Amino acid sequence: MPKKMIHDLYRMKQDGEKITWITAYDYPTAQFAEAAGMDMILVGDSLGMCVYGYPGTIPVTMDQCIVHCEAVRRGAPNTFVVGDMPFMSYQSSVEKAIENAGRFLKEASVDAVKLEGGRRVTAAVRGIVDAGILVVGHIGLTPQSSGQLGGHKAQGRTAESARGLIQDALALEQAGVQMLLLEAVPPEVGKFITQRLAMPVLSIGAGMHCDGQLLIVSDMIGQFQAFTPKFVKKYCNVAEVIVNAMKQYSSEVRSGAFPTDDHCYHMLEGEYPKFAEMAKELSGDPQD
Ligand code: KIV
Repeated sequence: MPKKMIHDLYRMKQDGEKITWITAYDYPTAQFAEAAGMDMILVGDSLGMCVYGYPGTIPVTMDQCIVHCEAVRRGAPNTFVVGDMPFMSYQSSVEKAIENAGRFLKEASVDAVKLEGGRRVTAAVRGIVDAGILVVGHIGLTPQSSGQLGGHKAQGRTAESARGLIQDALALEQAGVQMLLLEAVPPEVGKFITQRLAMPVLSIGAGMHCDGQLLIVSDMIGQFQAFTPKFVKKYCNVAEVIVNAMKQYSSEVRSGAFPTDDHCYHMLEGEYPKFAEMAKELSGDPQD
């Protein structure tokens, strides 16, 4: 399948064709996502929890994000890849935001960057967009500021809070974002913003009316164990598959059922008699 470009994603919105988006953090998962025909991949800073075992996304660094984006790009050369800007890579100054966004393109060949926040990040968004970089906005539950939000809580559940999200969405549109991700907001809010904006609006827990859906791969394949947000649907349970495979492996090692002759390398033709002779010589046994 040819790689989707930003104009293809806009066309999909216009045609009412849903956009599929999944996170990936490594080469094999990126290969799987491309083989499955996903339209987009996000190398999310959720890698902090899903790959490194951090309690949240705050400790994730630019260097970690770049390394994972490089691996994903190698695994999915024909998929639209979005690099996620980690905490403090775009908040302290517009210059720093532009420089860090540029690193994602120069060092990892991503197609776009994503950053969290609405009205408060428009200066950074403008700077990055003016540098010629595609930006995906992210509002609603923004995990990097979950402290301010009082935890990982759904947003926009009151009319006043929904108004704030709509204002954020409009401000980001003005600032030049080319796509918007809504996280953990009621479907009515998702629908309103999707209809109000010309750009593709993607959902992770924002209901069925958005132009497409994102899930974190570690959640949807049953790999991440700590907790499962309400918006996740688990499509398989790889943790169970992997633990069962490892249990069977260790039991076969202990019983001697693995390895068998099938798993062994054999000496080359004619080499065994020479080896036997040499082994005799080196065995140090004076009787032989
Ligand atoms: O890092 C990530 O995977 C994200 C999702 C939670 C939207 O930003």
